[in-house]
Amino acid sequence: MEVIIADDLELATLVADAVERLVRSESAPVLGLATGSSPLSVYDELTRRHEQDGLSFSSVRGFMLDEYVGLPASHPQSYHNVIDTEFVSRVDFADGAVQGPDGMADDLVAASADYDHAIAEAGGVDLQILGIGTDGHIAFNEPGSSLSSRTRVKTLANQTRIDNARFFDGEVDRVPQHCLTQGLGTIMEARHLVLIATGGHKAEAVHQMVEGPISSMWPATVMQMHPHATVLVDDSAASRLQLGDYYRQTYASKLDKERF
Ligand code: F6R
Repeated sequence: MEVIIADDLELATLVADAVERLVRSESAPVLGLATGSSPLSVYDELTRRHEQDGLSFSSVRGFMLDEYVGLPASHPQSYHNVIDTEFVSRVDFADGAVQGPDGMADDLVAASADYDHAIAEAGGVDLQILGIGTDGHIAFNEPGSSLSSRTRVKTLANQTRIDNARFFDGEVDRVPQHCLTQGLGTIMEARHLVLIATGGHKAEAVHQMVEGPISSMWPATVMQMHPHATVLVDDSAASRLQLGDYYRQTYASKLDKERF
């Protein structure tokens, strides 16, 4: 696991560079897209490159990590709608090229299996963008999630609903209780995991993810088992890392900083 500590702007640039390299080098690249605040500066930077440098997403397929159960795609806070507003509609993805789990399906179990199947049919995810919850979740794999789980229905933890109430006018009761989420096993099949975390409220989760024992109590710790995982954090999110100085030194002396 590579840990890069930098400011928000540099983190966004580095992740956008990795996405751009992928998009320009592969004929049918597959991106894994997270919603939430963490990747927003990356989506802004990719949109800027699309507008100013001609970076095209017309051959790219995208798979979202998760979706609330019971929010129609037209709801402002459905992840389908959020990713469309924040990124997809600002660049040139082909119609239908970005999909997410169907949280409105009558049969959520079948919809979950179909989603894993669709990812596999597309050849798997090349680069998965991730954020982390304050309780250590990735996607919506809350503490206690099986480390080999597949896409499925999950009940959101109270902490996650409190954290996400900001998107529902501060009203926790309006945050759905259930979601469909890619499982940890599903996410681990992506060829490159790229996780972004900023702010002191993420510091404990980041410390556990990078340096804690692998445990379903901190689901993101499963990433320690991935052969190609990059964690990009700002100073505040890095503030509880025991080996923070070592990560800084390693990155400062890295021979090819562009590559991660
Ligand atoms: C969203 C997702 C979640 C978020 C996490 C952090 O698709 O998968 O795991 O990445 O809750 O959210 P933010 O970035 O808003 O702090």
